[in-house]
Amino acid sequence: MALHINSTAKLPSGYEIPLLGYGVYQTPSEVAEDVTQHAIKSGYRHVDSATVYRNEEPSAKGMLKAGIPRDQLFYTSKVPPKSISYNDAKACIDESLKKTGLGYVDLYLLHAPYGGKEGRLGAWKALVEAVDAGKVRSIGVSNYGVHHLDELEEWQKQQPQGAAGIISVNQIELHPWLARKDIVQWCERRNIVLQAYSPLVRATRMDDPILMPIAKKHGKEPSQILLRWGLQKGFVILPKSVTHSRIEENTQLYGFELDGEDMRALDTGKYEPCTWDPTTAPLSGGMALQFVYGHALSYLQRFGIMSHG
Ligand SMILES: NC(=O)c1ccc[n+]([C@@H]2O[C@H](COP(=O)([O-])OP(=O)(O)OC[C@H]3O[C@@H](n4cnc5c(N)ncnc54)[C@H](OP(=O)(O)O)[C@@H]3O)[C@@H](O)[C@H]2O)c1
Repeated sequence: MALHINSTAKLPSGYEIPLLGYGVYQTPSEVAEDVTQHAIKSGYRHVDSATVYRNEEPSAKGMLKAGIPRDQLFYTSKVPPKSISYNDAKACIDESLKKTGLGYVDLYLLHAPYGGKEGRLGAWKALVEAVDAGKVRSIGVSNYGVHHLDELEEWQKQQPQGAAGIISVNQIELHPWLARKDIVQWCERRNIVLQAYSPLVRATRMDDPILMPIAKKHGKEPSQILLRWGLQKGFVILPKSVTHSRIEENTQLYGFELDGEDMRALDTGKYEPCTWDPTTAPLSGGMALQFVYGHALSYLQRFGIMSHG
């Protein structure tokens, strides 16, 4: 069926997730209420926030103010990278509920695979308990590489019935210069939904020589081609903008289709993250070590000094 602004994907939890999401990272809290309300009025039904974005309260307020019933809205938050442990995750979920006043959070993620094995699995257990308590509907991870996913799946297999939780989502940086075939394949084999963050490559590639001719061919903006690429790959896309006109522009992704030739041209095979890359962080070590190692490795891979495996 043709994609449209209200298209959704079914999560492994059984809930539906809107394919178009509105990201609020780096959205100042003073403007978050206004821009989020504008996004909902422009047709978005899904907002991606996080504890570390420091705008949960105004973002949720903006969502609710737009006048759309709560059950038609989808809100995500995340346990901060520095708080990946059982106790911190529990506290964090309660804080999100209090700040947002949404009654429940649609999707709660572990923001990064830090905290060591005990921290990661402890924080996951807190998410599972939050689902049982009706505080959260679906749970998932963010920035998990294949080795982190394997660790979680191994642990899940050892749990008694009902205690393992269901991984609904992995939210990672995804765009034509970072298609991450290994992680995508791991998730797709298990029907885990991929959420593409930084889908506009943070506006750093709008004049790219591969992208521009495709935009011209379809009479669309380069930003719309990038977002359409994500949708046609089957990803949930999370564009961010604090500019009213761009918030609207980023919803106009329907009524045209990238053909095989366009998709092949955009299949660059490159490894060029535009932000951090915790998917490469090692399983063990403290958060600081994992952070530094993950960053150093992503730079080495980016500049071709090491291959990305
Ligand atoms: N889980 C994670 O670790 C993680 C990491 C990064 C991001 N995320 C999520 O993904 C969301 C999006 O990622 P992102 O914020 O890194 O970057 P992005 O969405 O790729 O790019 C945002 C940038 O693009 C500009 N922009 C937006 N629409 C545009 C358009 N139509 N034409 C030209 N420029 C445009 C924005 O400017 P203006 O705002 O000035 O309009 C902003 O500078 C975040 O907000 C967050 O929800 C998650």
